[in-house]
Amino acid sequence: MQLTIFGSGYVGLVTGACMAEMGNHVVCVDIDEDKIQRLCNGEVPIYEPGLESYIKRNQEAGRLEFTTDVARGVSHGLFQFVAVGTPPDEDGSADLKHVLAVAESIGAHMNEYRIIVDKSTVPVGTADKVREAIHAALAKRDVSLEFDVVSNPEFLKEGAAIEDFMKPDRIIVGTDNPRTTELLRALYEPFNRNRDRLISMDVRSAELTKYAANAMLATKISFMNELANLAENVGADIEKVRVGIGSDPRIGYHFIYPGSGYGGSCFPKDVRALAKSASNSGYNAELLEAVENVNNRQKHRIFDKLLSHFGGDLEGKTIALWGLSFKPNTDDMREAPSRVLMEALWKAGASVRAYDPKALEETRRIYPSQEGLELCESSAEALTGADALVVMTEWQEFRSPDFDKISEALSEPVIFDGRNLYDPDYLKSNGIHYYGVGRGKSLNGGS
Ligand SMILES: NC(=O)c1ccc[n+]([C@@H]2O[C@H](COP(=O)([O-])OP(=O)(O)OC[C@H]3O[C@@H](n4cnc5c(N)ncnc54)[C@H](O)[C@@H]3O)[C@@H](O)[C@H]2O)c1
Repeated sequence: MQLTIFGSGYVGLVTGACMAEMGNHVVCVDIDEDKIQRLCNGEVPIYEPGLESYIKRNQEAGRLEFTTDVARGVSHGLFQFVAVGTPPDEDGSADLKHVLAVAESIGAHMNEYRIIVDKSTVPVGTADKVREAIHAALAKRDVSLEFDVVSNPEFLKEGAAIEDFMKPDRIIVGTDNPRTTELLRALYEPFNRNRDRLISMDVRSAELTKYAANAMLATKISFMNELANLAENVGADIEKVRVGIGSDPRIGYHFIYPGSGYGGSCFPKDVRALAKSASNSGYNAELLEAVENVNNRQKHRIFDKLLSHFGGDLEGKTIALWGLSFKPNTDDMREAPSRVLMEALWKAGASVRAYDPKALEETRRIYPSQEGLELCESSAEALTGADALVVMTEWQEFRSPDFDKISEALSEPVIFDGRNLYDPDYLKSNGIHYYGVGRGKSLNGGS
């Protein structure tokens, strides 16, 4: 089949590469000329495991093309996927300017029937706005053409995006036209072979399903962080509690890890946008507000622990930081807890020696020539001359480090473990001061 994808970011590139992998002919359109040039030269602008080889293979086979030529994109695909960003507006609601710009371009260039597929995460009612924008652009040209707008939200996880796209748990298709559902069913058929995972529904319910999923996951994380803070106050260990509650199949073990708060391009903005949609509709979504507030507070907890450990004064201290991306296996730094920590440390007069397996380049882009930031090429190099180690992202290479080397390198052996990777008792017996998340009064820095 022929399809066009607007937006060559995390979602657009993965969708394009996976669709091409199944034999479809995909044209990816982006307005970022530099990004398209790099992609045409075989360079993949983001880190996502497996993505580079998928892109290379399908580009070489002529099934995957990149262009800034909107007219070419619109004439190419029966399916016009919209995978552009929906960043938060000033008031927290989703900014639809990129989505509507794509809709307008489609209306300006289409000459035959098209199916517009919204993959971007968009508030309920966006499909109607897309439809209106296309109608308006067609009316300007004085033409009348048939088209459909479908909501097909994306559920991939950065770090495992290819796997998620190739073997989806579900494919949500929201449309009011049964014929369009069948065309999408045919497009998704190769991803759907061992059982039918396509769930069809009306457009508005599909739009809300995506926000509901992210808000539920964010709620689980904030709930565990709330309990972790309580555990610290009452002398319990949240890791024991986690295992205890996860064994209940109604709760399960997924997404109940306490930590330094959720980040990334989706949860923070989607929780905010959903709360804003709720208030616009006349409903006060108290739970969502609390989920966000708990998360914002959580992102400051490690800093507060550092400050208290160093007697309220971090001026002149050097902090080694392992992990910058908002989670492992990605270079995405959007709303990463590491940024909140680093910015607080700089404000307090401390400096940071940071290492991340994939996000150094992205950090350099965000903080060019930042005073108090040294980016290091290895975890060992980050420790040199530091006063404490903070672990912010649970990359595999941080899970079982050489604690003797850490102790030797730091001016004082103290670890702030923002992901509860280490065993507090083991560290204590090795003379290392340990601060985790929710690990009880006796464990929390008590060594
Ligand atoms: N990143 C994720 O893990 C993820 C997962 C599921 C859903 N989503 C949603 O998917 C959407 C895209 O997210 P992303 O992370 O891929 O964004 P991104 O910022 O990585 O990429 C968006 C791309 O769209 C391009 N763009 C903007 N306006 C354009 C236009 N008019 N025409 C063509 N291209 C244009 C930008 O240049 C950019 O390359 C968002 O709504 C997001 O919430 C993201």
